[in-house]
Amino acid sequence: MFRALQLILRKKGGALGPAASPGFVNGFSSAPNSQRLAGKVAVITGAASGIGKATAAEFVRNGARVIIADVQDDLGRAVAAELGPDAACYTRCDVTDEAQVAAAVDLAVGLHGRLDVMFNNAGVFGDVTPTTLGSIDLDDFDRVMAVNARGVLAGVKHAARVMLPRRSGSIICTASTTSLLGGILPPAYTVSKAAVVGLVRAVAAEVARSGVRVNAISPHAIPTPLSMAAVAQLFPERSVEEHRRIVEKDYNEMVGPVLEEDDVARAALYLASDEAKYVNGHNLLVDGGYTVSKAPNITAAPGQ
Ligand SMILES: NC(=O)c1ccc[n+]([C@@H]2O[C@H](COP(=O)([O-])OP(=O)(O)OC[C@H]3O[C@@H](n4cnc5c(N)ncnc54)[C@H](O)[C@@H]3O)[C@@H](O)[C@H]2O)c1
Repeated sequence: MFRALQLILRKKGGALGPAASPGFVNGFSSAPNSQRLAGKVAVITGAASGIGKATAAEFVRNGARVIIADVQDDLGRAVAAELGPDAACYTRCDVTDEAQVAAAVDLAVGLHGRLDVMFNNAGVFGDVTPTTLGSIDLDDFDRVMAVNARGVLAGVKHAARVMLPRRSGSIICTASTTSLLGGILPPAYTVSKAAVVGLVRAVAAEVARSGVRVNAISPHAIPTPLSMAAVAQLFPERSVEEHRRIVEKDYNEMVGPVLEEDDVARAALYLASDEAKYVNGHNLLVDGGYTVSKAPNITAAPGQ
């Protein structure tokens, strides 16, 4: 029925018209150079690697200029060089230092006159060694919170500083499926990601009154350097191939497609673009349904 309605509207050149043009599927561009962020300027923290790096490339493919903000200088510079000097530049930015976050934002404004998208993505797992509740290391908790929660708050604060006066902008914060589910990773990380979603909710109404949006993205397990290192720490006797399989298959629910950095990058692209102009305060899960179902694990009958 919906398909029939689409066909009728397209014949009439109606509201779904763009779907008829090449490169558009259901109104959204799927072309590799579709320029959904044409002219926009973005700061991406943690962009030297993994999800941030993939998102920087996706944003540039779509016409944005990006500031790669990270603490891995060599990798960050290499990512910027790969994307090209007109599209990307690297700046050292430790998100635990508010002044460095403020400087990354000011660099975007100084170079390009504006900041349209702030992607607060830098994150750490902390110590993933299994431990009892009675042995939790509160110093580890503080370190994780400093990057994942306080670092994101610094990014939100300084993005808002330059976006609110212009009454425009999209702030995106990387949370995780651990923002909803306990037991996947240690408490410090789980608390930090719940805090990211809490922060998004806490400020969404305030920024909306100035025409700015703030959203979270919650990916599930992807074999980036971060998660591969964690799995290697948990299963040192296993091979790299097995570590990858554990992240891609054992931690994930969906059979067939494998969750990749690019899947998160495309979710960030949507939230960054004007297509999401009324999406605010949302936590966009990219998890293949992991957080909405728990299949029963039925053991074999006795004697079988
Ligand atoms: N990989 C996963 O399975 C997964 C799942 C859900 C959420 N996440 C989140 O995605 C985000 C990106 O992680 P990733 O998987 O791409 O890992 P990654 O290690 O590939 O990238 C993380 C980047 O953050 C940078 N970083 C760390 N501390 C920093 C700091 N203090 N200041 C600035 N940069 C810093 C690192 O140098 C690195 O380049 C993180 O917030 C992570 O918690 C990852």
